[in-house]
Amino acid sequence: MPSDQLPPGPRGSSWLGGSLRDFTARRLDFFLDVARDYGPLASFRFGPRRMFLASDPALIEQVLVTDAKHYIKHFGARMYKPVLGNGLVTSEGEFWLRQRRLSQPAFLKQRVHSYAPAMAELTRRMLADWRPGKWVDVQYEFSGLTSAIALKTLFGLESTEDRATFVEALREAFDLMSARFRTVLAVPRWVPTPANRKLKRAIRHLDTVMDGFIAAGKKRAAEREGQGSTAGEAVDLLTRLLAARDEDGSAMTPRQLRDEAMTLYLAGHETTALTLSWAWLLLAQNPAAEDRLVAEWKAVLGGRSPTPDDLPNLPYTDAVIAEAMRVYPPVYLIGREATKELELGGYRVKKGYTIFMSQWVNHRDPAYFPDPGAFKPERWLDGLAKRIPKYAYYPFGGGPRVCIGNTFALMEAAILLATVGQRYRFTLDPAAVIDFDPQITLLPKYGIPATLAAR
Ligand code: HEM
Repeated sequence: MPSDQLPPGPRGSSWLGGSLRDFTARRLDFFLDVARDYGPLASFRFGPRRMFLASDPALIEQVLVTDAKHYIKHFGARMYKPVLGNGLVTSEGEFWLRQRRLSQPAFLKQRVHSYAPAMAELTRRMLADWRPGKWVDVQYEFSGLTSAIALKTLFGLESTEDRATFVEALREAFDLMSARFRTVLAVPRWVPTPANRKLKRAIRHLDTVMDGFIAAGKKRAAEREGQGSTAGEAVDLLTRLLAARDEDGSAMTPRQLRDEAMTLYLAGHETTALTLSWAWLLLAQNPAAEDRLVAEWKAVLGGRSPTPDDLPNLPYTDAVIAEAMRVYPPVYLIGREATKELELGGYRVKKGYTIFMSQWVNHRDPAYFPDPGAFKPERWLDGLAKRIPKYAYYPFGGGPRVCIGNTFALMEAAILLATVGQRYRFTLDPAAVIDFDPQITLLPKYGIPATLAAR
């Protein structure tokens, strides 16, 4: 019988808001403190909402895998629906399952591998504009590069003009959405306030841009029809989604296509850019690790970009990426909401309760990662991933809703790291203040300012 009591936890600094203010002020430390002070399952409130923080890997597995069908995404994830629509990240139940099945073949290893040349080529184009001595914000540069790669691999989009239009439309919609979240009591979206009208216009603009991409994709798909294709051929993801058919032969509607494409773009590019940005910061701060990495590239690649066939021969590159995502996980927090009364760790989880799980907390657990604050790629080289519980390290989440793009992301990270890193290293600005801005992803608050030096 689960206990009727709540798990231990902080009361929070305000009677009305519970721990909301503490969370808003210092989210990363808030979760670390709660896990340290109250143990594997802790409880607190955000206003009237009851929250648990599960920090024991076995409890995380129960939520993400064993009881997955009784949980939906938490309220925070649902808030982005106006922009993301009902895509893979935000949809639920049968609808989600159908979309996931339709999308999955586009992410088969062989298909993902077909994007490697485009990734390397777009990286080389970025490098063509770089010179030793140039000042860069690492986060800005890699965000631009992964955005270009996402638009090329998703929509077959090459033109920088189209790219700029899309990125601008999206930024506007997101800025307006974020402003909406910051207001405690947002006016419902159907009320025609100036802010709501602006948001509506921004979303409509975004939809028009997306419709254009989808129409172009349809044209490409029609051209390909009858030509026959192979799994390894570099066909953009949108064309693949357009061709996807359910068991009953039905395809995605234009609305679904728009939502899935938007979701893939948003879920895919910034997370990978952050992996690279944090990796470069950590490498710049750990020259011995950087030397070892460069030696691996020299031996295996000799100056060229890696192909998918090279990846198994780049274990240290792999370890650097794994370790960067451990120390600074791009997605540092995920959450689920119970759809019925459940049990977790001996406690009762009532319908509507939210369970948070934080990569930031788990990836810093000294029980599995001695000296957790230190960047030590070596720790991954002798089978650590197999020795620790599965949910001690979960940068891509887990269970049925595990990241669909993990192979894509890991390949992209390795190709970009090696292509850039064989030409340049980053000298951090000595006066740079490196801090975190934990939003949906773990952003650097003031960027990562650095100067390029020839390797
Ligand atoms: C290093 C890069 C990435 C990281 C750290 C990352 C992390 C994650 C995490 C933690 C989740 C699970 C969220 C949850 O359980 O609530 C997720 C889901 C997802 N990711 Fe990624 N991701 C990355 C790259 C990508 C890429 C490149 C794509 C697409 C091209 C992508 C598409 C998605 C989608 C569609 C989902 C939702 C899957 C579902 O619910 O069925 N991600 N990602």
